[in-house]
Amino acid sequence: MPDKVLVTREIPEAGLGLLEDFDVTVLAERPPTRDELLEAVRGASVDHSTATEKMGGEVMDAAGEGLKVIANMAVGYDNIDICAATNRGVVVTNTPGVLDETTADVAFMLMLAAARRLGEGERLLRAGEWEWWGPKQLRGIDVWGKKLGVVGLGRIGRAVARRGRGFGMEILYHNRSRKEDAEKELGARYLDLDDLLRESNFVSIHTPLTDATRHLIGERELGLMQDTVVLVNTSRGPVVDEAALAEALEGGRIFAAGLDVYEEEPKVHPKLLALEKAVLAPHIGIATIETRDRMATLAAENLAAVLRGEEPKSPVES
Ligand code: GLV
Repeated sequence: MPDKVLVTREIPEAGLGLLEDFDVTVLAERPPTRDELLEAVRGASVDHSTATEKMGGEVMDAAGEGLKVIANMAVGYDNIDICAATNRGVVVTNTPGVLDETTADVAFMLMLAAARRLGEGERLLRAGEWEWWGPKQLRGIDVWGKKLGVVGLGRIGRAVARRGRGFGMEILYHNRSRKEDAEKELGARYLDLDDLLRESNFVSIHTPLTDATRHLIGERELGLMQDTVVLVNTSRGPVVDEAALAEALEGGRIFAAGLDVYEEEPKVHPKLLALEKAVLAPHIGIATIETRDRMATLAAENLAAVLRGEEPKSPVES
């Protein structure tokens, strides 16, 4: 009997095509409800999940003893209870390394759009309210030549820093550990978080979501930033306290924000929705045809390797 593979969301053909030897069920295009997930996962050897499905012990138990692997089609795996998986002998894999440049493009896009007030300008134009050109109209702030503070200098953070170098920016970074190779490659300067927030003109967040990074940027941290700062978050929503960010933007305590992720996706804090200075993207950091294909392929290769009794390419270390 072929292994039963539950694919929780519709994924690109590039990934599905690699699963032909298995008994595959593709659940839904939209996120499944809890009950749908608990029902569909029964008897599965594999759960091929995405970042929107919460995979805790309850889901693993619903799958039953045959569950061997949860292959997450995402680099972040905060949606999976790793401890519960380890206790049940379930291997967890993710998709690092194939999405760094794509995510960095979106971080930079948000940085530029927020600094140059693109969203605001486009709304004005589309509303038919752009009546004349004026020298004081829609003045933003320069990106080139400024100080870019990267919080979390992993693969994605580095790709953002490289883009910053291309814009003649000085790179500051904060990370759990010093990255001396990156300091050499990027001329990056290590600072503790508070100093980075005080010195940077642009702050871009690239940490995973963990207990230590939840609300890493809150009222106190926003208060340390200059009032001309642009804050960009393409990591996970809960790393930034959205209510505190909305207050800071509303009070003019920072210049603008570019967000791709939110605390309770797909909900967005109502104050942010009303603020011109917030550029808001619907979690599109990795949404390119090429990268989604690469992620789907890697997730499928990972799960197939585990079922063959081999080491997957990118296991999550527990
Ligand atoms: C997407 O958000 C990912 O973690 O890959």
